[in-house]
Amino acid sequence: TGYTALDYGFVNTAATKSKITYIDGEQGILRYRGYPIEQLASSSTYLEVSWLLIYGELPTADQLAEFDEKIRRHTLLHEDLKRFFSALPHTAHPMSVISSALSALSTFYENGANPNDPEQVELTTIRLLAKLPIIAAYAHKKSLGQAFLYPDNSLNFVDNFLKLNFGTMAEPYEIDPVLSKALDRLLILHADHEQNASTSTVRLVGSTGANLYASISAGINALSGPLHGGANEAVLQMLGQIRDSGESVQRFVERVKNKEDGVKLMGFGHRVYKNYDPRAKIVKESADEVLQALGISDPLLDLAKELEQIALEDDYFKERKLYPNVDFYTGVIYKAMGFPTRMFTVLFAIGRLPGWVAHWREMNTDPQTKIGRPQQLYIGSGARDLPQR
Ligand code: CMC
Repeated sequence: TGYTALDYGFVNTAATKSKITYIDGEQGILRYRGYPIEQLASSSTYLEVSWLLIYGELPTADQLAEFDEKIRRHTLLHEDLKRFFSALPHTAHPMSVISSALSALSTFYENGANPNDPEQVELTTIRLLAKLPIIAAYAHKKSLGQAFLYPDNSLNFVDNFLKLNFGTMAEPYEIDPVLSKALDRLLILHADHEQNASTSTVRLVGSTGANLYASISAGINALSGPLHGGANEAVLQMLGQIRDSGESVQRFVERVKNKEDGVKLMGFGHRVYKNYDPRAKIVKESADEVLQALGISDPLLDLAKELEQIALEDDYFKERKLYPNVDFYTGVIYKAMGFPTRMFTVLFAIGRLPGWVAHWREMNTDPQTKIGRPQQLYIGSGARDLPQR
């Protein structure tokens, strides 16, 4: 009975109203709570943007200081949770490690994860923002076989994260302000993107009444795929393969156009942007600045630029309105910072966390929210009887 619209990939169906992020894909516009991404990227900070996304307005100086202080206070991980890492192989992909660790985190705060208790939601918000970077840095250290450092709460959010990733017990760690600023900006660029696959996952899981830890862990898993956040890792792999195989960029692009072996130009194309992704513009500029400031020249950046130029002039990409997306140039910067390729999507997850939390909270306080439950068009067998037994 009734009419069910079929919409593979939710191309035409809105599942909610939202006040958080505005995108105009034709014009290449992205705004968080009305503020253009370009302005936020140049003169805000990741923590300020997190507050903006979650609470809806820019914080006052006092509110921001209090937020920062609370997050610093919650950076420690329970010592038992630290032992959880030793149960996993050092070859484990860090995305699997962090999603498992977030699920595990909920076991430490089981009584405090009630989605209907605003105080607990607030505390969980702070805990997640504080602890995900620590968990991420430990996933990195684990892969290197190095000791985990304790957070240094005298440092700001990004500096603390850098030290936990690149510091060791043996030597003092000097924070490079260029690195720190560049990472903060990248986190801002990733902080929200309305109803993308991982955010929709967070909302769908949350719509069942599941707690924030469980919902975010599901979002991390959704982000890990190469068509979504995993694309930043896939771009670097693609560039490395082109370089190592000696194949010309032109020939690689031909293979993409012929859809040979399903090969795609990773870091290109977007469901919503049919014009240059405004985040990619900022990242491209940043890549040049950061590599120059660090005194690094990476042939993979030149390769990426050559690939972009050939693609932008090619009819296949023009007709389909395929432009570089946020993931095309980020990997080159993360690599210059010293992160291994397998950490790239983890950095995306840290960036996206405030967006996921903001959407989960918006959904949970919207009186119109219902459990998410898509329809299907059944095309299987009609009723039939089991053979006589
Ligand atoms: N390389 C080659 N062809 C492509 C690409 C690409 N990267 N992206 C889309 N196309 C083609 C696609 O084959 C199709 O061609 P045809 O009409 O001949 O069948 C046409 O363009 C339309 O593409 P679509 O797959 O229907 O578009 P979609 O909106 O379903 O998919 C996408 C969007 C992002 C999954 C896709 O563009 C893609 O796979 N890109 C590569 C992966 C990537 O970079 N993902 C990161 C997305 S941005 C950040 C994030 O969300 O994490």
